[in-house]
Amino acid sequence: MGEPHEDADGGGDDRGHLPQLLAIGAVASAIGVAIALLIDWWPALASREGEQIDTLYDWLLIVSVPIFVLVITVVLYCVWRFRMRPGQEHLDGPPMHGNTRLEVIWTTLPAVLLLALCTYAYIVLDDIEDAKSEAPLQVRVVGEQFTWTFFYENPDGGEEIASSRLYLPTSTSTLFRVQTKDVLHDFYVPAFRLKIDAVPGLTTNFKATTLDNPGTYPVVCAELCGLGHAVMRQTATVMPSQDFEQWLSERAAESDGGGGAEESGGGGGGEEAGGEAPDGAELFTATETRCGQCHALEDAGTTATIGPKLDESLQGRDEAYIRRGIVEPNADIADGYQPGFMPPNYGDTLRPEEVDALVTYLQEVSR
Ligand code: CUA
Repeated sequence: MGEPHEDADGGGDDRGHLPQLLAIGAVASAIGVAIALLIDWWPALASREGEQIDTLYDWLLIVSVPIFVLVITVVLYCVWRFRMRPGQEHLDGPPMHGNTRLEVIWTTLPAVLLLALCTYAYIVLDDIEDAKSEAPLQVRVVGEQFTWTFFYENPDGGEEIASSRLYLPTSTSTLFRVQTKDVLHDFYVPAFRLKIDAVPGLTTNFKATTLDNPGTYPVVCAELCGLGHAVMRQTATVMPSQDFEQWLSERAAESDGGGGAEESGGGGGGEEAGGEAPDGAELFTATETRCGQCHALEDAGTTATIGPKLDESLQGRDEAYIRRGIVEPNADIADGYQPGFMPPNYGDTLRPEEVDALVTYLQEVSR
């Protein structure tokens, strides 16, 4: 037992493990890549730019998963195969020198792979950033604690049209010009695979081209921006072009002072763009207002606890108080709650008759 270099497996035949190791590694890598490609990493896709990004993501998986799996497999195999056995406690391992060829390979290969992937990623990014000026539609996106407001150019040339929901036509490129009224936010539409910071004092932008299929997708804030960050979630609706044009012209007619507000008889195309009187109960839970996401209200069946329970905080209050609570949410703050939480833009994004309907509804059910 005096020989310190004696190896249980005999020093010479270590190379015999190599083919075995490589075979195990190759099988494990193939399984790893198959699993990685089968997993649905992303929500439904809604932009042409996203198609390129998803392909890039697949290539990142195809290249990086085998390396990860191979390294882990070799490490686990070696830990098991060359483990210390009883009686070997005081033995040294065999003397080892570096292996120049191996070191060159494991330095060059990852460097080449990294360079190739970076080049590919840069080409995709460059492609997406390209031709921004060709976007036929522009939307100004304004973030604030804790909501987004989307502003559209008025087709009649009047004041910009404000919406708390993002409406977009199908198969159209839109340039989003992103701004913020207060702190850093991040405008993110996961279905587009695109996001960009909203930075105080700057206008940042990105272009997204919708696909041919209408649908509804989440819009979120991807930058921790305060206590209400998690509720800074809205909706993007991609709709057929003629429905979008109709919605825009209806909103334009309303904002131009009611001159054309009566001519909405021919409607019926848009989802929410009907001409009938708004329903307060529906509005309370609608994605435009999201009241029910923060407030509990028995009549609406909502139980959220982010804002005051309205059955209690509005009980016996007059119309003016309730209206102020919607349009100027920081004017009166219920005990135990903080200012700055509720979106302050309802006065801009809701039509006056919608605010009226909400006030009437809330007063009725919290009596
Ligand atoms: Cu705005 Cu997070």
